[in-house]
Amino acid sequence: MVPSRRHKAKMPSATSVVARSYPDNIIGIDNRLPWRLRSDLRHFKETTDKHAIIMGRRTFDSLPKKPLPNRYNIVLSRDPIVETDQLRWAKDISTALLLADTFSICNMQKQFFVIGGETIYAQFINFINQVWLTEVFTGSMNGDAKFEYVFNKSEWWIRSENEFAQSEFDEFPFRLTHYIRRKEEHRTRAIEDFRYGDGVSVALLDQWLEKFGVPDAIHTFGEQLPLL
Ligand SMILES: NC(=O)c1ccc[n+]([C@@H]2O[C@H](COP(=O)([O-])OP(=O)(O)OC[C@H]3O[C@@H](n4cnc5c(N)ncnc54)[C@H](OP(=O)(O)O)[C@@H]3O)[C@@H](O)[C@H]2O)c1
Repeated sequence: MVPSRRHKAKMPSATSVVARSYPDNIIGIDNRLPWRLRSDLRHFKETTDKHAIIMGRRTFDSLPKKPLPNRYNIVLSRDPIVETDQLRWAKDISTALLLADTFSICNMQKQFFVIGGETIYAQFINFINQVWLTEVFTGSMNGDAKFEYVFNKSEWWIRSENEFAQSEFDEFPFRLTHYIRRKEEHRTRAIEDFRYGDGVSVALLDQWLEKFGVPDAIHTFGEQLPLL
Protein backbone atom coordinates (compact mmCIF):
# COMPACT_ATOMS: atom_id res chain seq x y z
CA MET A 1 0.00 0.00 0.00
CA VAL A 2 1.19 3.49 -0.79
CA PRO A 3 0.43 6.46 1.50
CA SER A 4 -2.32 8.70 0.23
CA ARG A 5 -0.09 11.76 -0.06
CA ARG A 6 3.60 12.49 -0.26
CA HIS A 7 5.03 12.68 3.25
CA LYS A 8 8.29 14.54 3.60
CA ALA A 9 10.88 13.97 6.29
CA LYS A 10 14.16 15.63 7.23
CA MET A 11 17.13 13.61 6.09
CA PRO A 12 20.54 12.89 7.69
CA SER A 13 23.13 15.64 7.57
CA ALA A 14 26.27 15.54 5.39
CA THR A 15 29.73 16.15 6.86
CA SER A 16 33.00 16.38 4.91
CA VAL A 17 36.38 15.24 6.12
CA VAL A 18 39.31 16.70 4.20
CA ALA A 19 43.03 17.25 4.67
CA ARG A 20 44.80 19.87 2.57
CA SER A 21 48.25 21.38 2.49
CA TYR A 22 48.89 24.90 3.69
CA PRO A 23 49.25 27.23 1.81
CA ASP A 24 48.56 25.48 -1.53
CA ASN A 25 45.37 23.53 -0.72
CA ILE A 26 46.73 20.30 -2.21
CA ILE A 27 44.86 17.12 -1.23
CA GLY A 28 46.52 14.52 -3.44
CA ILE A 29 49.23 13.66 -5.91
CA ASP A 30 49.28 10.69 -8.32
CA ASN A 31 46.12 9.42 -6.65
CA ARG A 32 47.56 9.20 -3.16
CA LEU A 33 47.85 11.34 -0.05
CA PRO A 34 51.03 13.45 -0.02
CA TRP A 35 51.79 12.87 3.70
CA ARG A 36 51.73 10.38 6.52
CA LEU A 37 49.80 11.65 9.53
CA ARG A 38 48.88 8.85 11.88
CA SER A 39 47.03 11.11 14.36
CA ASP A 40 44.88 12.54 11.58
CA LEU A 41 44.07 9.06 10.25
CA ARG A 42 43.09 7.98 13.75
CA HIS A 43 40.73 10.94 14.01
CA PHE A 44 39.28 10.09 10.58
CA LYS A 45 38.72 6.49 11.62
CA GLU A 46 37.08 7.39 14.95
CA THR A 47 34.86 10.06 13.41
CA THR A 48 33.58 8.00 10.49
CA ASP A 49 33.35 4.66 12.34
CA LYS A 50 30.01 2.85 11.77
CA HIS A 51 28.78 5.56 9.38
CA ALA A 52 28.11 5.75 5.67
CA ILE A 53 30.97 7.30 3.69
CA ILE A 54 30.66 8.62 0.14
CA MET A 55 33.72 8.78 -2.11
CA GLY A 56 34.74 9.01 -5.76
CA ARG A 57 36.02 5.98 -7.65
CA ARG A 58 39.57 7.34 -7.81
CA THR A 59 39.70 7.82 -4.04
CA PHE A 60 38.34 4.30 -3.59
CA ASP A 61 41.09 2.96 -5.89
CA SER A 62 43.67 4.79 -3.78
CA LEU A 63 42.70 3.11 -0.49
CA PRO A 64 45.29 0.65 0.79
CA LYS A 65 42.52 -1.40 2.41
CA LYS A 66 39.17 -1.43 0.65
CA PRO A 67 36.36 -1.18 1.44
CA LEU A 68 37.22 0.77 4.61
CA PRO A 69 36.25 -1.55 7.48
CA ASN A 70 33.33 -0.81 9.87
CA ARG A 71 31.90 1.71 7.45
CA TYR A 72 29.32 1.58 4.67
CA ASN A 73 31.38 2.50 1.60
CA ILE A 74 29.41 4.23 -1.18
CA VAL A 75 31.51 4.70 -4.31
CA LEU A 76 30.50 7.04 -7.13
CA SER A 77 31.41 5.84 -10.62
CA ARG A 78 29.80 5.87 -14.02
CA ASP A 79 30.84 2.22 -14.40
CA PRO A 80 29.41 -0.54 -12.20
CA ILE A 81 31.38 -1.73 -9.17
CA VAL A 82 30.99 -5.23 -7.72
CA GLU A 83 28.98 -4.73 -4.53
CA THR A 84 29.16 -6.37 -1.10
CA ASP A 85 27.36 -5.63 2.20
CA GLN A 86 29.88 -2.92 3.00
CA LEU A 87 30.49 -1.64 -0.54
CA ARG A 88 27.82 -0.04 -2.70
CA TRP A 89 28.01 1.45 -6.17
CA ALA A 90 26.30 4.81 -6.84
CA LYS A 91 25.91 5.74 -10.50
CA ASP A 92 25.06 9.35 -9.62
CA ILE A 93 24.75 11.77 -6.71
CA SER A 94 21.08 11.08 -6.02
CA THR A 95 21.75 7.33 -5.75
CA ALA A 96 24.64 8.03 -3.36
CA LEU A 97 22.38 10.20 -1.18
CA LEU A 98 19.59 7.65 -1.10
CA LEU A 99 22.02 4.90 -0.05
CA ALA A 100 23.56 7.16 2.63
CA ASP A 101 20.15 8.27 3.95
CA THR A 102 18.85 4.72 4.09
CA PHE A 103 21.92 3.31 5.85
CA SER A 104 22.01 6.22 8.32
CA ILE A 105 18.35 5.82 9.26
CA CYS A 106 18.61 2.04 9.59
CA ASN A 107 21.62 2.49 11.86
CA MET A 108 20.35 5.49 13.86
CA GLN A 109 23.10 7.79 12.60
CA LYS A 110 22.27 11.46 12.21
CA GLN A 111 25.04 12.13 9.72
CA PHE A 112 27.07 10.56 6.94
CA PHE A 113 30.45 11.56 5.57
CA VAL A 114 31.74 12.80 2.23
CA ILE A 115 35.40 11.81 2.08
CA GLY A 116 36.66 13.00 -1.32
CA GLY A 117 38.35 13.42 -3.67
CA GLU A 118 38.41 16.75 -5.41
CA THR A 119 35.47 16.13 -7.77
CA ILE A 120 33.27 14.80 -4.96
CA TYR A 121 33.93 17.64 -2.49
CA ALA A 122 33.09 20.11 -5.25
CA GLN A 123 29.74 18.47 -6.06
CA PHE A 124 28.64 18.12 -2.41
CA ILE A 125 29.92 21.34 -0.81
CA ASN A 126 26.64 23.25 -0.99
CA PHE A 127 24.76 20.85 1.22
CA ILE A 128 27.55 19.96 3.63
CA ASN A 129 26.71 21.13 7.16
CA GLN A 130 29.97 20.31 8.92
CA VAL A 131 33.57 20.00 7.79
CA TRP A 132 36.50 18.44 9.61
CA LEU A 133 39.36 20.32 7.95
CA THR A 134 42.97 19.28 8.48
CA GLU A 135 45.49 21.89 7.37
CA VAL A 136 48.88 20.28 6.90
CA PHE A 137 51.80 22.68 7.27
CA THR A 138 53.90 21.28 4.45
CA GLY A 139 54.95 24.60 2.93
CA SER A 140 54.72 25.00 -0.81
CA MET A 141 54.22 21.69 -2.64
CA ASN A 142 53.07 20.12 -5.91
CA GLY A 143 49.96 18.06 -6.36
CA ASP A 144 47.20 17.31 -8.85
CA ALA A 145 44.10 17.35 -6.62
CA LYS A 146 42.98 20.39 -4.62
CA PHE A 147 40.35 21.61 -2.17
CA GLU A 148 40.28 25.39 -2.55
CA TYR A 149 37.06 26.18 -0.72
CA VAL A 150 37.28 29.33 1.42
CA PHE A 151 35.56 29.15 4.83
CA ASN A 152 33.78 32.45 5.18
CA LYS A 153 33.10 33.57 8.78
CA SER A 154 29.62 34.74 7.91
CA GLU A 155 28.72 31.22 6.75
CA TRP A 156 30.71 29.01 9.14
CA TRP A 157 31.63 28.99 12.81
CA ILE A 158 34.37 26.98 14.46
CA ARG A 159 33.33 24.42 17.07
CA SER A 160 36.88 23.24 17.85
CA GLU A 161 40.42 23.78 16.69
CA ASN A 162 43.49 21.75 17.73
CA GLU A 163 47.15 21.96 16.76
CA PHE A 164 49.31 18.83 16.40
CA ALA A 165 53.12 18.91 16.42
CA GLN A 166 55.35 17.05 13.99
CA SER A 167 56.39 13.72 15.54
CA GLU A 168 57.74 10.33 14.61
CA PHE A 169 54.14 9.41 13.65
CA ASP A 170 53.08 12.66 11.99
CA GLU A 171 55.30 13.81 9.13
CA PHE A 172 54.19 17.48 9.36
CA PRO A 173 52.58 19.67 12.01
CA PHE A 174 48.89 20.18 11.33
CA ARG A 175 45.75 21.88 12.60
CA LEU A 176 42.37 20.19 12.82
CA THR A 177 39.35 22.51 12.66
CA HIS A 178 35.71 21.55 12.99
CA TYR A 179 33.56 23.95 10.96
CA ILE A 180 29.78 24.16 11.37
CA ARG A 181 27.56 25.85 8.81
CA ARG A 182 25.61 28.66 10.48
CA LYS A 183 22.49 28.07 8.45
CA GLU A 184 22.28 24.32 8.01
CA GLU A 185 21.04 22.85 4.76
CA HIS A 186 18.45 20.21 5.47
CA ARG A 187 17.29 17.99 2.70
CA THR A 188 13.86 16.48 2.94
CA ARG A 189 12.69 13.39 1.19
CA ALA A 190 9.34 11.90 0.36
CA ILE A 191 8.83 8.73 2.36
CA GLU A 192 7.92 6.90 -0.84
CA ASP A 193 11.51 7.31 -2.03
CA PHE A 194 12.53 4.62 0.41
CA ARG A 195 10.68 2.04 -1.60
CA TYR A 196 13.77 2.12 -3.80
CA GLY A 197 16.16 1.85 -0.84
CA ASP A 198 17.10 -1.13 1.27
CA GLY A 199 14.45 -1.87 3.81
CA VAL A 200 13.73 1.15 5.99
CA SER A 201 10.62 0.27 7.98
CA VAL A 202 8.06 2.82 9.12
CA ALA A 203 8.95 2.05 12.74
CA LEU A 204 12.64 2.73 12.12
CA LEU A 205 11.97 5.91 10.21
CA ASP A 206 9.68 7.07 13.01
CA GLN A 207 12.32 6.29 15.65
CA TRP A 208 15.00 8.08 13.69
CA LEU A 209 12.86 11.17 13.14
CA GLU A 210 11.91 11.29 16.80
CA LYS A 211 15.58 11.33 17.73
CA PHE A 212 17.03 13.53 14.98
CA GLY A 213 14.23 15.10 12.94
CA VAL A 214 13.00 18.64 13.57
CA PRO A 215 9.35 18.67 14.71
CA ASP A 216 8.04 20.66 11.77
CA ALA A 217 9.54 18.16 9.35
CA ILE A 218 7.74 15.21 10.93
CA HIS A 219 4.51 14.25 9.27
CA THR A 220 2.02 11.54 10.01
CA PHE A 221 2.90 8.45 8.06
CA GLY A 222 0.23 6.39 6.37
CA GLU A 223 -0.85 3.61 8.74
CA GLN A 224 -0.62 1.16 5.90
CA LEU A 225 2.92 2.00 4.77
CA PRO A 226 4.50 -1.40 4.18
CA LEU A 227 7.92 -2.50 5.35
CA LEU A 228 10.09 -1.29 2.51
N1 LIG B 1 43.55 14.83 1.44
C1 LIG B 1 42.33 14.33 1.51
O1 LIG B 1 41.59 14.58 2.48
C2 LIG B 1 41.83 13.46 0.41
C3 LIG B 1 40.63 12.77 0.54
C4 LIG B 1 40.19 11.97 -0.53
C5 LIG B 1 40.96 11.88 -1.68
N2 LIG B 1 42.12 12.59 -1.75
C6 LIG B 1 42.93 12.57 -2.98
O2 LIG B 1 42.16 13.11 -4.04
C7 LIG B 1 42.59 12.50 -5.26
C8 LIG B 1 41.41 11.90 -5.97
O3 LIG B 1 40.47 12.94 -6.30
P1 LIG B 1 39.88 13.03 -7.81
O4 LIG B 1 39.12 14.30 -7.89
O5 LIG B 1 40.99 12.77 -8.79
O6 LIG B 1 38.94 11.75 -7.91
P2 LIG B 1 37.64 11.32 -7.06
O7 LIG B 1 36.79 12.53 -6.81
O8 LIG B 1 38.04 10.51 -5.89
O9 LIG B 1 36.93 10.32 -8.08
C9 LIG B 1 36.53 10.79 -9.35
C10 LIG B 1 35.67 9.74 -9.99
O10 LIG B 1 34.42 9.63 -9.28
C11 LIG B 1 33.38 9.32 -10.19
N3 LIG B 1 32.40 10.41 -10.15
C12 LIG B 1 32.58 11.71 -9.79
N4 LIG B 1 31.41 12.39 -9.86
C13 LIG B 1 30.47 11.49 -10.25
C14 LIG B 1 29.07 11.59 -10.49
N5 LIG B 1 28.38 12.74 -10.32
N6 LIG B 1 28.42 10.47 -10.90
C15 LIG B 1 29.08 9.30 -11.05
N7 LIG B 1 30.40 9.14 -10.83
C16 LIG B 1 31.10 10.24 -10.43
C17 LIG B 1 34.03 9.16 -11.55
O11 LIG B 1 34.41 7.80 -11.60
P3 LIG B 1 34.52 6.98 -13.00
O12 LIG B 1 35.71 7.57 -13.71
O13 LIG B 1 34.74 5.55 -12.56
O14 LIG B 1 33.23 7.18 -13.73
C18 LIG B 1 35.25 10.06 -11.42
O15 LIG B 1 36.29 9.74 -12.33
C19 LIG B 1 43.63 11.47 -4.89
O16 LIG B 1 44.92 12.03 -5.01
C20 LIG B 1 43.33 11.19 -3.43
O17 LIG B 1 44.46 10.72 -2.72
C21 LIG B 1 42.56 13.37 -0.75
